[in-house]
Amino acid sequence: MSEFIKACPTSQVKEGEGKLVSIEGVPVAIFNVNGEYSAIHNLCTHQGAPLCEGHIDDGKVACPWHGWEFDVKTGECQFPNKNVKSFDVKVEDDYVFVKVK
Ligand code: FES
Repeated sequence: MSEFIKACPTSQVKEGEGKLVSIEGVPVAIFNVNGEYSAIHNLCTHQGAPLCEGHIDDGKVACPWHGWEFDVKTGECQFPNKNVKSFDVKVEDDYVFVKVK
């Protein structure tokens, strides 16, 4: 049964930045773009860099190592079959909740 898990307070995910959280052993990058929160798998499908440390522009995060870009909401990559997983997110009582399963 899938359920939302409390990830972190919204105040810990600054506007235009990413934050790494571990949810049930899954490394998840949470992003805040214009006050909208989203979550994708943290590890780049190229060589495993932490996407939470990437620069965000126009709804996409650029991998800090070699610049592959991923949509912060859908995990879609510009290369075929290289998407990262995206996760459902909700905000309640100033906390971000993520569903990893
Ligand atoms: S590790 Fe992400 S682009 Fe190379």
